[in-house]
Amino acid sequence: MGHLPRPRGPISEGIISALSGGALPTAGSPDPFGEDLHLSLYVCYELHYQGFAGVDPDWEWDPGLLALRRDLERVFLTALRDGVEGGTDVAAAVEAAMIDSPGGVSHFLEDKGELWHLREYVVHRSIYHHKEADPHAWAIPRLTGQAKASLVAVEFDEFGGGRYARMHSKLFGDLMRALGLDDSYLARLDDVPAPMLAVVNMMSLFGLHRSLRGALVGHFASAEITTSPSAARMARALDRLGVAETVFFTEHVEADAVHEQILRHDVVGDLLRREPELAGDVVFGFQATDLVESRFGAHVRNAWDAGRTSLREASDGR
Ligand SMILES: [Fe+2]
Ligand SMILES: [Fe+2]
Repeated sequence: MGHLPRPRGPISEGIISALSGGALPTAGSPDPFGEDLHLSLYVCYELHYQGFAGVDPDWEWDPGLLALRRDLERVFLTALRDGVEGGTDVAAAVEAAMIDSPGGVSHFLEDKGELWHLREYVVHRSIYHHKEADPHAWAIPRLTGQAKASLVAVEFDEFGGGRYARMHSKLFGDLMRALGLDDSYLARLDDVPAPMLAVVNMMSLFGLHRSLRGALVGHFASAEITTSPSAARMARALDRLGVAETVFFTEHVEADAVHEQILRHDVVGDLLRREPELAGDVVFGFQATDLVESRFGAHVRNAWDAGRTSLREASDGR
């Protein structure tokens, strides 16, 4: 369980103070990719995961907060839909996900990243990997048949195949500690800017809405397709920087090459045989993943290329 973060604008300030006993704010018209909207959504969604220390767990189903969250989700979802090409060609979306973008963050880290770059990257990703594969678990009750069975097979691996020591969130914590970082749950949330919050908020948004199950499956497939090659680059980056704790990445090189095949053929394939009308949502899941990941990558590269931190300016640079 994490601690409530510091607010980043009027909406997040209102939500965080409401969770501690104040009145709820209204949504207004926030920037769909801005800090205030994304911290607000992240806090709302976290109530469905581990929650926050000192916050009544019943806030999870507070009708006023859910109504506010819905307004914020609409702003974000509209921006995602407006930001992608769309269409129903799933095979083309798969092909696009397999194209490697050489300007990506893992390429930078492999080629020339220093230890501080690596540590920043791990801090960013920690707000997902602390709950790795949790958002995708919401797909389980929303699928049937082989798609369900195969998605659960992938999730079984993500959660360590019954062994806590092999759970991917645990392996990520091991990596954080090896880098001298605090690996307690969401310890660095205050330092992580909107472009990364948006990546995780998109997963929670897709996971919590049955109507977006096609997008969730498309996102999951996209993530599994892109992870194996980027994990190989990250393992080489760690080797080059003399970091011995490479298991998190080497595990993903192996596992995600298999997961990619299962997701493509047995989950996406079976889902579309059953519900062909979801093809557009599956494509949306692929394209929206590329959109938020590209925005995150551009943010990080812009900061690093200018020799600046990619973490929040307001953070204290731990
Ligand atoms: Fe994983
Ligand atoms: Fe995986």
